[in-house]
Amino acid sequence: MAIDPKYINKLISVTTKAALASFHLVGKKDKIAADKAAVDKMRTELNKIDIKGEIVIGEGELDEAPMLYIGEKIGTMNGPEIDIAVDPLEGTNFAAYNLPGALSVIAIAEKNNLFKAPETYMEKISANVQEKGVIDLDYSIKKNIHNLSEYLNKKPEDITACILDRPRHSSIIHELNKLNVNIKLITDGDVSGALMVTDKKYKVDIFLGTGGGPEGVLAAAALDTFDCSFQGRFIFVTDKDKTRAKNMGIKNLKQKYDLNEIVSGDSIFCATGITSGDLLKGIDIKNNDYTSETLVTHKSSKLKKIIKYKEKI
Ligand code: FBP
Repeated sequence: MAIDPKYINKLISVTTKAALASFHLVGKKDKIAADKAAVDKMRTELNKIDIKGEIVIGEGELDEAPMLYIGEKIGTMNGPEIDIAVDPLEGTNFAAYNLPGALSVIAIAEKNNLFKAPETYMEKISANVQEKGVIDLDYSIKKNIHNLSEYLNKKPEDITACILDRPRHSSIIHELNKLNVNIKLITDGDVSGALMVTDKKYKVDIFLGTGGGPEGVLAAAALDTFDCSFQGRFIFVTDKDKTRAKNMGIKNLKQKYDLNEIVSGDSIFCATGITSGDLLKGIDIKNNDYTSETLVTHKSSKLKKIIKYKEKI
């Protein structure tokens, strides 16, 4: 069954209001306060919506996060059963230091259609490819780039790979350099990084590397509507992480997941810009009005567009 399109505007409102709440703390060098503002607002707004919601990707587990924790029930409890993934402030450093690219993000799917996972890292790979077997987490970097260049009919030196600038990626970056691939290094914000494969205007052909698992699940929800490929593999390091994962029903801790094992059925994704970045313009306040931009996708209606809003504060 499809998710009623009436939820699209409600979710745009949720991320827009969370983005605005966080925007007031942009540049204040306090990422905890900027995050808390977004979390509080997102939770308040979600609780007004007629759904029987459950947070499956959130701020952490109950012992770490009092709000929007994994397993929290949310909504008025009158309405359909819905799985919810949230990242009220994606890019806490961006917001704290007024840098480009902070977003407020949410994705929903029908119950049991969104991956429930603890907060760990995830190996990720994504490209605007509709065929299976072109890119794969188990291939070498060389094979992925070779396959992609054949698929896109581009030389490796005309391919751009987006990757988080982290020491853990030094060997991947070294391989990409050997292949003469252009590299777009991002300092944070890999939801946005992954989504840059969706449109030629972002000039990114492949996104790869290890980042947050929650961010991977959120990106997968949007990539599904854009018909892009995505694979993820969670990385469980500590015994605590491994136990949590098992308690959540993850049997094989080393499993590689294809996009539709992470999100399936119908889904809605919304990301609102807080500070202007590659993907979206940020909140802009003039007098008593503010403008916002939200990227919204709805799988069943194939909706994928950036919606601009102007509203009173
Ligand atoms: P926060 O918004 O929680 O600060 O996350 C930002 C981010 O860059 C994510 O986009 C990314 O998935 C993750 O951090 C990478 O983690 P790390 O900074 O530990 O490499």
